[in-house]
Amino acid sequence: MDSAKIKQDFPLLQQNIMYLDNAATTQKPQVVVDALTKFYTHSNANVHRGIYALAEQATQLYEDARAEVAQFIGAQANELIFTKGTTESINFVATAWGNDYLNEGDEIIISTMDHHSNIIPWQQVAKRKGAVIKAIPLYRDGTLQMDQVPHLINKKTKIIAVSHISNVLGIHNDVHALRDYARQVGALFLIDAAQSVAHQAVDVKELDCDFLAFSGHKMLGPTGIGGLYIKKDLHDLIQPYQFGGGMIAQASEYSATWLKAPQKFEAGTPPIAQAVGLCAAVRYIKNNINFDALRQHEAALCARLIDGLQDLKQIKIMGPIEQLKEKGHLVSFVVDGHHAHDIAAYVGQQGICVRAGQHCAQPLACFLQVEAMVRVSFYAYNSTEEVDALIATLHKLLA
Ligand code: ALA
Repeated sequence: MDSAKIKQDFPLLQQNIMYLDNAATTQKPQVVVDALTKFYTHSNANVHRGIYALAEQATQLYEDARAEVAQFIGAQANELIFTKGTTESINFVATAWGNDYLNEGDEIIISTMDHHSNIIPWQQVAKRKGAVIKAIPLYRDGTLQMDQVPHLINKKTKIIAVSHISNVLGIHNDVHALRDYARQVGALFLIDAAQSVAHQAVDVKELDCDFLAFSGHKMLGPTGIGGLYIKKDLHDLIQPYQFGGGMIAQASEYSATWLKAPQKFEAGTPPIAQAVGLCAAVRYIKNNINFDALRQHEAALCARLIDGLQDLKQIKIMGPIEQLKEKGHLVSFVVDGHHAHDIAAYVGQQGICVRAGQHCAQPLACFLQVEAMVRVSFYAYNSTEEVDALIATLHKLLA
């Protein structure tokens, strides 16, 4: 993978900065910035409302974006709902589906490694409905205890909702096996794909999931947009998440009926420019990033970092090291005697951007018995020179 060539496409990366916080958000290529500017300069109007040419153009761009982003994840266009991002997508399912289909005593399976966005919405709906949360426990290296799943599921299990890839430990979960467990007991299956869609090919039909949630800004697109794949069979069974304009078939003062999906699920003015920007991001990935090469590139950067930190005895790498070296895109570690925030601030002074904290995964941090971790997360434009600069900076501080 020619990371130097890819980096040239990213205006922000032309300044003297080493950006290693891609699990939080990726940088944007010029084509995404241009798509947003072009939309606002030439095509801005509301969608699905106006009958003048500009409104029709905006509607076309928005629906073309839906079709192209849907195709990117293997979905039909009407199976993709635009949301604010992964968090809203999971809240959507927990609320719109959970309110109607969870009952007292029903069970929801998540895992201890999940991001708060795949824990708290389930806790809230469980509280409202008297349902029960069960978390798949972890082995010491943070991987899921898959052998425990058969003991957790039963006829009361209504949904299994898990991360595709952990945002803290970079672990790839066996979503096929989890889907099969869900099917065994007639439960639905949701994948939090926030950390996977930009890094590997994701195909909802091959995964055979019921819901898949992702964020645009972690895949080179704008903030304020993400997606929720909802399997077609469920469209008529799920009520809208929000209500208002743009989703109504007929309304009186006292009652209303809805349009078909996806409009049924997109009340109000949607993120139109952001959808156009996300479409440009998807096109950029398709044209410039080969997922096999990306995996090799990111795993090589992980391996280089892990090996380069090996002789610093104060550093403990979290997670399954061999898996990270094979297919990781991020590395988290703790430094004995130094708070993670201090490490991030120190390397930040050298122009190196890494994240420190609990990464919105307090149950995992608690399990790992760490207060905070430093996280280094890669994408296609990162280079071995950046990894070496980080290793050298940490050696200067700790050796
Ligand atoms: N979920 C994002 C992260 O892990 C913000 O950093």
